[in-house]
Amino acid sequence: MQIYKVGGAVRDRLLGIPVTDIDWVVVGATTEEMLAKGFRPVGADFPVFLHPKSGEEYALARTERKSGRGYGGFTFHASPEVTLEEDLIRRDLTINAMAEDDQQNLTDPYHGQQDLKDRLLRHVSPAFAEDPLRVLRVARFAARYAGLGFTVAPQTLELMRQLADSGELQALTAERSWKEISRALMEDQPQIFIEVLRECGALKVLMPEVDALFGVPQPEAHHPEIDTGVHTLSVLQQSALHKLPLTVRWACLLHDLGKGLTPTEEWPRHIAHEHTGLKLIKAVNERFKAPKDCQELALLVGQYHTHGHRALELKPSTLLELLQSFDVYRRPQRFEEFIAACEMDARGRKGLEQRSYPQADYLRGAAAAARGVAVQPLLEQGFKGPELGEAIKRERLKAIKAYKEHA
Ligand code: CTP
Repeated sequence: MQIYKVGGAVRDRLLGIPVTDIDWVVVGATTEEMLAKGFRPVGADFPVFLHPKSGEEYALARTERKSGRGYGGFTFHASPEVTLEEDLIRRDLTINAMAEDDQQNLTDPYHGQQDLKDRLLRHVSPAFAEDPLRVLRVARFAARYAGLGFTVAPQTLELMRQLADSGELQALTAERSWKEISRALMEDQPQIFIEVLRECGALKVLMPEVDALFGVPQPEAHHPEIDTGVHTLSVLQQSALHKLPLTVRWACLLHDLGKGLTPTEEWPRHIAHEHTGLKLIKAVNERFKAPKDCQELALLVGQYHTHGHRALELKPSTLLELLQSFDVYRRPQRFEEFIAACEMDARGRKGLEQRSYPQADYLRGAAAAARGVAVQPLLEQGFKGPELGEAIKRERLKAIKAYKEHA
């Protein structure tokens, strides 16, 4: 049997990027031979094994034929006769379809090296269309390698467009899509992921609520960029520039969905978009089965981001309600993430990227004041049950009033 390093490990070594994950392909072997060498099989469908020591993935060379719709619709053919070239041709991009032996001799039948030089994300063959997830993968790679100057080849973009139009994307499971989306959002330029999806028509299918924001105007006085889609991408970009976690990036992407529902007669104003957007945020959250912390923060940021911007003008009672809504006493981190998302929203505007955001420290101060109220003295005064709750609230309100007067 011959063993080759394939995929991302070869690509990233040639790009001079640190390699974290190594995938291997094994040519000329049978499942029985692999098991005899101590490899552990993974899953039932794929002829993939884990190395007994390193735990790295070793896949038997295989060809794939599509036999139906969706991810389940595959038949696999793995046998010792399948050649390396046959295995590589079914892969997504030329830059992912190179193999290397233990002497670092490269097998590159589909000109991946040339495309690395030309900074092109190009599909290997029409077999690209056999897995619609690749539309998201290419958009993710475009986001990841944008800094190196990579773009999607026009023919590949065309193929992605055909896949988006065909309805195949609907067959993707929430889990597979979310894995791509969440990885893409954690790249340095996540806005490119959304831009590429939009360009090939996949955004309209996957997140029509985000797609609908493009072409929707906002008041120029607050939003020099005017367009809500452009604003959303800038907010997302800011969240990456500030190295914020996935929860915040997800919330940034979804914070203004309500603006896509504003009747055109009301443009460029978006009265109550914080409320109208909630059902859309919920729908997107559920479509991709986003993790609970992402779902929660997106909904809270959607509902309260304008409160964040007006923090300095809010009445103490409204500030208190805001803090209660976030359960800031038990979940201080979540409130920090809210503040970060608001700040990115304020900065994701043309020409305002460097502006200061005094609301952030003001909100932190208000939260600290409310959290500073001690419960013990109230217990000692004999408060119990609902009355204790009321007394705590009264004290917190007093603390916020005092804070507001001195801030
Ligand atoms: N692959 C593919 N189509 C997919 C998934 C994977 O063709 N839908 C192939 C590609 O050749 C890819 C390899 O399998 O390079 C390994 O896949 P994976 O580990 O998911 O991605 P990497 O390319 O290694 O990229 P990353 O750095 O994002 O892990």
